[in-house]
Amino acid sequence: MNFEEKKYQIKRYDLSEDKSLKAWSAADEYLLQEFTDLEKKPNHLGIYGDRFGFLGCYLHSFNPTVVFTQKSQQKAIDANLKAHNIPMLNFSDPLSPLENEMDFALVNVPKSLELFQLFLEQIAGNSSEDITVICAFMTRHFSPKLLQIAQEYFDVTEQSRAVKKARLLVLTKKKNIVKKELITSLNYNNQDYKQYWGVFSAQHIDYATQFFLDHLEIDDTDRCILDLASGNGIIGNEIFKELPDAEIHLMDDSYLAVSSAKLNVQGENIHHHFNNELTIFDDNAFDLIVTNPPFHFEFEINIQIPLHLFKGCLRCLKKGGNLQLVANKHLNYKIHLEPLFSSVEIIAEDKKYIVYKCIK
Ligand SMILES: C[S@@+](CC[C@H](N)C(=O)[O-])C[C@H]1O[C@@H](n2cnc3c(N)ncnc32)[C@H](O)[C@@H]1O
Repeated sequence: MNFEEKKYQIKRYDLSEDKSLKAWSAADEYLLQEFTDLEKKPNHLGIYGDRFGFLGCYLHSFNPTVVFTQKSQQKAIDANLKAHNIPMLNFSDPLSPLENEMDFALVNVPKSLELFQLFLEQIAGNSSEDITVICAFMTRHFSPKLLQIAQEYFDVTEQSRAVKKARLLVLTKKKNIVKKELITSLNYNNQDYKQYWGVFSAQHIDYATQFFLDHLEIDDTDRCILDLASGNGIIGNEIFKELPDAEIHLMDDSYLAVSSAKLNVQGENIHHHFNNELTIFDDNAFDLIVTNPPFHFEFEINIQIPLHLFKGCLRCLKKGGNLQLVANKHLNYKIHLEPLFSSVEIIAEDKKYIVYKCIK
């Protein structure tokens, strides 16, 4: 099947300006083909890892439950459905019990195998005994751990031949498993931080984040602060400890990250936002924005997204307010930040990381 010429023109709808990036992969195509070839169609279908809505659009007539993990994903699926006049599908997050018991699930395997396990955990707990799960991945991304996780939940795990460098793993004969704790914990600065499986840097604090926290410049007069791309909330919370009276906002694109941050950062002046764009904030709202910004999106590296976020930061900062960010040196954000801000200063650097302070 040539999906470029098919009836649905699926678009990415992300913040990236790189038009060469595709809105679906050979793994998505393989899942769709396999589903289309099935003789008996399921009563209730679950879809996981549908980044921009390719599977949701093609399979909407089966009234699937689409499990989303990111706000950007939810928005993209929504936009692609609307563009094709397809009525809204059932959306669910990956933690809540599902309304309908699934008897079939399609999974585009995410980069984080912890997240893959979280998906299987939800599928196992919300499905009939005879559930079949078809997982797809690009052959180069296969790891034995993927198979090992699948075997924890299913007695039969069969691999397909490769098609366009994608492969399927078909899971049947669900095991009787005991529900697992979906949270890991790490200790930093005498505090335990919790995070759901699949959240960034689950086992220990990220080295860049640690370096950032060691050099962050906080001013007692900072009243309104944003931790952008907040993950489990560690940066926002460490600032909260220093400035307990400040109003602190934490925003992340990941549902699991925001759910984790809600466990770690609590207070009257704390506000959590599940979003991927700063458009939710007013102009001139913040004295300080801090971020360890994303540049990996699943298997893609894409700095267009952080660059777009930096422009949003400029709009949302008060005059004289500042954005502080940590980054891998090789990304060379300075050349992108200098045209935006009135000054860009390097406040710390080592062999690998750099911390910028950008004043509006
Ligand atoms: C490098 S991690 C930093 C997490 C956390 N601040 C820390 O230091 O441990 C980047 C985070 O950006 C989030 N993210 C990706 N795209 C985003 C967007 N458009 N808006 C907000 N957050 C985003 C990811 O979900 C991830 O949690």
